[in-house]
Amino acid sequence: MTKTPAASAADPSPSATTNEATAQIGVVGLAVMGSNIARNFANHGHTVAVYNRTTAKTEKFMADFGQTGSFVPAETIQDFVASLERPRRALIMVQAGAGTDAVINQLADAMEPGDIIIDGGNALYTDTIRRETDIRARGLHFVGAGISGGEEGALNGPAIMPGGPAESYESLGPLLESISAKVDGTPCCTHIGPDGAGHFVKMVHNGIEYADMQVIGEAYQLLRYGAGMSPADIAAVFREWNKGDLESYLVEITAEVLAQVDADTNTPLVDLIVDAAGQKGTGRWTVKAALDLGVPVTGIGEAVFARALSSATSQRQAAQGQLPSGQLSPAVAPEDREAFVEDVRRALYASKLVAYAQGFDEILAGSAEYGWDLDPKDMATIWRGGCIIRAKFLNRIAEAYQANPKLESLLLDPYFNSELEGLVDSWRRIVVAATQQGHPVPVFSSSLSYYDSLRAQRLPAALIQGQRDYFGAHTYGRVDRPGAFHTLWSGDRTEVEA
Ligand code: ATR
Repeated sequence: MTKTPAASAADPSPSATTNEATAQIGVVGLAVMGSNIARNFANHGHTVAVYNRTTAKTEKFMADFGQTGSFVPAETIQDFVASLERPRRALIMVQAGAGTDAVINQLADAMEPGDIIIDGGNALYTDTIRRETDIRARGLHFVGAGISGGEEGALNGPAIMPGGPAESYESLGPLLESISAKVDGTPCCTHIGPDGAGHFVKMVHNGIEYADMQVIGEAYQLLRYGAGMSPADIAAVFREWNKGDLESYLVEITAEVLAQVDADTNTPLVDLIVDAAGQKGTGRWTVKAALDLGVPVTGIGEAVFARALSSATSQRQAAQGQLPSGQLSPAVAPEDREAFVEDVRRALYASKLVAYAQGFDEILAGSAEYGWDLDPKDMATIWRGGCIIRAKFLNRIAEAYQANPKLESLLLDPYFNSELEGLVDSWRRIVVAATQQGHPVPVFSSSLSYYDSLRAQRLPAALIQGQRDYFGAHTYGRVDRPGAFHTLWSGDRTEVEA
């Protein structure tokens, strides 16, 4: 690979840019994520063109990191494009929305047919579908790439979910794979599918992340207030859990957060943090898309609503001490604590399984709706490293879809099925205990209801169909013969075929 000499930190001025096409990739947008991705490319031996709308940021980037790799700074988008090898590959890392559209247009004006524009931001997949259509019409390739792993991942190895034309992956894939995380030598990056598929999958990944964080939160809540344990003791429990089925980045950092003590007050930090969870919107998008696709992602939905409820501070303040609790059971006795902790672990595991099963259902429904032909095994494989939901059990999910790509639900995979056998009694006990003690467990409980709904021989949907037929003549099907039927509710109540 040809390398240009690293630009001098003593002279970080972008005006030093030459128009020679020496860079294998360019990054537009040098805020935190963009800077780290650019450095990651350079750390892997690539020459990286860098450009930011505000030139001062490019200068600062070059002053800070110019010596650490081979960078070609540019002051104008034209210089930036001119510095890219063909087919030109420009990765946009700017604020999602209007910023992305502005940069896409500038790049498209300066580029030539066959060049590739990559949006690495958190774009809504329907925007990506629209942009891909527009850019294709201009003879260029557009790749919406979901990138997960936060700041740290961007620098040291994220999970990357590129969509767009398969053809563009031929030249782009090796570059992206080189900077992605690796698990057992396999890159956490693969071509996901056409147009918006990459951003759709990244969106669902984030939705699953919401549910995963919420079930961990519910487990914490029960250990803390249901069993009366200290944050330090609970940190130790999570550390232990991280050695088993629940081994994951999120469980690992949960132990770190719980163990943190505030230096000023010598109090567990978690007790000083305002209990109102923020959200940037990808969880909400996942639920909105699921509603449109008709996929019940109850775990993700409850997790999004739980954050919203936590942030409804004035409503919560008004309700505290006013809404009657009813007769509550006492906290778990110390001698029962060990069994309770194990029950909580199992309830967490089972609820997490449901959330992942639902997330994969949404991916498959999106794939069917948009004709993406996604392979769920690929998602499980690339999510094993680099991203926030990286976890040991994604290996099992990959194996499940590998063994049976037509699996009706992840919960029905033989391995997970047998796991559930060992979890379900604890899960029920925990939902009951939480309810009797008055602790909210929206995802634990809704996941159990989802599970019982799936298992049920009969659902009250039969009654709902009767009601719908009663007030709206919406008709119903019968279990004993085909066709659609209507009862003459306001007449003689005989049944007619619709
Ligand atoms: P972070 O990684 O910190 O979350 P962000 O808010 O998502 O960053 O995106 C900030 C980046 O988007 C910056 O590089 C910003 O450029 P400036 O430094 O000039 O502000 C870039 N950005 C936002 N809107 C833009 C636009 N309309 N055109 C070009 N770049 C834009």
